[in-house]
Amino acid sequence: MRVLGIETSCDETAAAVVTEGGDVLSDVVRSQVALHAPYGGVVPEVAARDHARAVVPVVREALARAGVTAADLDGVAVTSRPGLAGALLVGLQTAKGLAWAAGKPLVGVDHLVGHLLAVFLRRDGARSTPAPDAPPAPDAPPAPPASDERPAFPYVALLASGGHTAIYRVDGPALGAIRELGATRDDAAGEAFDKVAKLLGLGYPGGPVVDRLAATGDAAAAAEAVPAVMARKESLEFSFSGIKSAVARHVAKRGRPEGQALNDLCAAFQGAVVDALVQKTVRAARAEGIERVVLAGGVAANRGLRAQMAAACARRGLGLFVPPFASCTDNGAMIAYAGALRLAAGERDTLDLAPETRTALPRVTRKGGGVR
Ligand code: KG4
Ligand code: ZN
Repeated sequence: MRVLGIETSCDETAAAVVTEGGDVLSDVVRSQVALHAPYGGVVPEVAARDHARAVVPVVREALARAGVTAADLDGVAVTSRPGLAGALLVGLQTAKGLAWAAGKPLVGVDHLVGHLLAVFLRRDGARSTPAPDAPPAPDAPPAPPASDERPAFPYVALLASGGHTAIYRVDGPALGAIRELGATRDDAAGEAFDKVAKLLGLGYPGGPVVDRLAATGDAAAAAEAVPAVMARKESLEFSFSGIKSAVARHVAKRGRPEGQALNDLCAAFQGAVVDALVQKTVRAARAEGIERVVLAGGVAANRGLRAQMAAACARRGLGLFVPPFASCTDNGAMIAYAGALRLAAGERDTLDLAPETRTALPRVTRKGGGVR
């Protein structure tokens, strides 16, 4: 089975052709990062308009690189939720038009399910350089060691990106087999990286820059500026807004640090975020009696997170599965793969499929205040 996946939920216009075995035949990602950088975050209307300009060339490129035409496809998968309504609509209308014109089945995919299954993608044969008109990658992080091993079900997954941060128990690929164990009550981890980087004048997105500066920083030297992120140890919920406010207060009082002091502050901030992510993920795995841990989302590129998670899992005899960076950040391949599994299970959506801003996965974490 060969399935086209289209992803436009946030600030990447992406399309890919993937088999139901997870083989990535093509994967085209056009990032809008440069477009949103002046604003320090994603502007929804700007995102939707740019998707509308880019989506058809990106889909054409994905089909061409896979060496197929629409007639060769077994289905069209598209991110239908969660995301920015206007941005989702562009991908949905494109997918519907293509599915209808080519007489192929259409399936909607929950973006979070795509992330949680991205660990199964095989990229050996993929022709996955960015589309020709893609802006240069902003301060691309170094490629950290990634395993091409695939986990068995069940596994515990930490999904940490700019829009989402949660821990899931994944018993299988279907929506009903995925359970949230705990999520952030406020900011996502990537959002915290981006907001702190903005406070420190480091540009957008902040994760890769903070990661790089933290590598030569001494967390202990800036420890007083950054509180621990985990209020209640036994809870699996996160909160990252407090640490962001602490950095803001520090900068308001002392000014923006420079040189070594800047690196130290980045190391202290990153260390606190990573501590929370690692400790809660490991605690979730132990509480569920599960021996496999999977990383997903853009923050999984963080070198501190990878190193600390690897050490924590090794200490407790847990297997850690870290997909390559291209599978962690937003991409069309994870949508195509999740869609292929839905199609293989005989599922279909109609042309009435509408965008939803929220995930279909049941949430257990209440947004807002409270004791964590
Ligand atoms: O998954 P993703 O590409 O997009 C979504 O948000 O869905 O994740 C992007 C997020 C941004 O917040 C970015 O700052 C963060 O991932 N990020 C990182 C690193 N690389 C990207 N955060 C920490 N360390 C990194 N090396
Ligand atoms: Zn995402």
